Amino acid sequence: MNIALVTGSAGLIGSEAVSFFADKFDLVIGVDNNLRQYFFGEEASTAWNRNRLEEKFQNYKHYTADIREVPQLEVIFKEYGSDIKLILHTAAQPSHDWAAKEPFTDFTVNANGTLNMLEMTRLHCPEAVFIFTSTNKVYGDNPNYLPLIETETRWEIDANHPYFEHGIDENHSIDHTKHSLFGASKVAADILVQEYGRYFGMKTGVFRGGCLTGPNHSGTQLHGFLAYLMKCAITGNHYTIFGYKGKQVRDNIHSYDLVNMFWHFYQNPRAGEVYNAGGGRFSNCSMLEGIQICEEITGNKMNYSYSETNRIGDHIWYISDLNKFKSHYPTWNWTFGLTETLQQIHDGIAERLSH
Ligand SMILES: NC(=O)c1ccc[n+]([C@@H]2O[C@H](COP(=O)([O-])OP(=O)(O)OC[C@H]3O[C@@H](n4cnc5c(N)ncnc54)[C@H](O)[C@@H]3O)[C@@H](O)[C@H]2O)c1
Repeated sequence: MNIALVTGSAGLIGSEAVSFFADKFDLVIGVDNNLRQYFFGEEASTAWNRNRLEEKFQNYKHYTADIREVPQLEVIFKEYGSDIKLILHTAAQPSHDWAAKEPFTDFTVNANGTLNMLEMTRLHCPEAVFIFTSTNKVYGDNPNYLPLIETETRWEIDANHPYFEHGIDENHSIDHTKHSLFGASKVAADILVQEYGRYFGMKTGVFRGGCLTGPNHSGTQLHGFLAYLMKCAITGNHYTIFGYKGKQVRDNIHSYDLVNMFWHFYQNPRAGEVYNAGGGRFSNCSMLEGIQICEEITGNKMNYSYSETNRIGDHIWYISDLNKFKSHYPTWNWTFGLTETLQQIHDGIAERLSH
């Protein structure tokens, strides 16, 4: 039997992966205890998404296990053992602002939880491919010291800089920089996943996400930038821009395109490899540009204000360079651009709000 095990399966990336893998594996096991509701409150609950997956996919099996609890994971790994061919580990505390509220919780979920998943894999299914969703926050605020220039709607990197054409690559330093506690717990996990590849020879891959987005994000103020922005555009709720004149730039990748990267890696895996994963030059926007597109799609004027104080460690300009991944997996490419993705987010939220 071929099994894919997805942690964080009711979240944005996990749920997209369950849909993607359902017809490619005999069984897809999901692990998610809806800790997202504990982090961000009722509006961020992923229970609706878990129900949707259980109704839609006959071969989906959900476990409400907590990745911090080895005995709960052991039950699953002992039952399915080497039938598990792929582990996609997306369960996390995903917000850098929230991490400072409860450092113990953040670190035990992000770092210890990842170690638990790696060790379970090594002990019960060492041949499986292990994929980890890391983050561009592992680079800390180093990108903020690049030579940036201000334009009318966004910050941009100097056109003479090597990052101008394709964005920031994997050799950017992760050291000597302010990460936020979230960034630090993700660095710990990122390095552990690399090490299980390099030291134990396991097939592990690290994907350092830019802004990950899509119609199934349970967007909330502290996490899920475009989904929350669009929610505010639809409902008229107030949106606050934090610092950098609203010109901070993020690159946005649709969850489908990211999961398709994982699928390519799974079919031809490497050991301890690291890839940047975002929308690159293909799909990116500043806050102000994102607001404009949301206004065009909804036909509503957004109700937003500006606060001078930026989020600690927040990037001013971040665009991922995907050339390393593309050179290893030349048949992969993006499919969804920014406006199309925002339209899908709009339609998803509008439908959920109508129930
Ligand atoms: N969304 C982004 O913009 C972004 C950017 C870069 C990296 N990432 C990373 O990608 C991954 C997926 O992000 P996402 O946007 O899908 O997040 P998400 O919050 O939508 O999904 C994560 C899921 O994990 C679950 N979870 C959390 N702690 C758990 C625990 N202890 N045990 C079991 N389940 C638990 C949550 O309930 C949630 O459903 C995370 O590792 C995140 O750090 C996300």
